[in-house]
Amino acid sequence: MSDILVVAAHPQLEHSRVTRALLKALKKQRPDVALHDLYARYPDYYIDVDAEQAALAAARLVVWLHPTYWYSMPPLMKLWIDDVLAYGWAYGPGGTALHGKGLWLVTSTGAGPEAYAAGGRHGHPFETFLLPWQQTAMLTGMQALEPLVHHGAHRSDDAALQTHVEDFLRGLDAARVGGELDYSRCTVPGDERPDQAAVEAAGVPSRL
Ligand SMILES: Cc1cc2nc3c(=O)[nH]c(=O)nc-3n(C[C@H](O)[C@H](O)[C@H](O)COP(=O)(O)O)c2cc1C
Repeated sequence: MSDILVVAAHPQLEHSRVTRALLKALKKQRPDVALHDLYARYPDYYIDVDAEQAALAAARLVVWLHPTYWYSMPPLMKLWIDDVLAYGWAYGPGGTALHGKGLWLVTSTGAGPEAYAAGGRHGHPFETFLLPWQQTAMLTGMQALEPLVHHGAHRSDDAALQTHVEDFLRGLDAARVGGELDYSRCTVPGDERPDQAAVEAAGVPSRL
């Protein structure tokens, strides 16, 4: 089992530009990193929860790699979260299996950064849409790393895509070298973040 697990979800990888480039580089240049390509692995959407939990338990860094769909994620990624991050395992009484692991979101958007600026088409900074992801990390005791986002996926030039691929590989490598990943720089604006002290004071709900 690998200490890095990349959970990737793209429903139409054959039409992908960004996710395909990342997965190609991962397979070729970091073949020792565990890759769970969900749409290839579970074409019937029947997720092997035991196998997924075993891979998660072995990992120190968990990467979620998917395009942004409807300000969120593709459906099989969401089903994986629903099924695998189970009550009593990932949260709730005795649900400590993921505590202390790093969680890194690597995603892309069709829209450019200007669409996520104030007054832009999508109305809010992109980081605002990351709150469910960040709170999932918090509830499961994982450390949310600063997400890696490639905006304007269809019109970025090849050099920008190549930089994105290199940043991705560098992030994976950083997890390896003495565990010195910076878990603190998530770009969700401070005033948009849940107040962790208040969450802890209120107690984690026993059931979502
Ligand atoms: C169903 C669907 C929903 C999408 N929703 C969004 C969205 O909410 N915001 C956005 O910026 N782009 C959105 N996009 C564009 C994708 O994020 C973009 O095509 C993808 O990041 C490109 O990555 P790829 O080359 O790996 O496919 C959506 C695309 C699809 C097919």
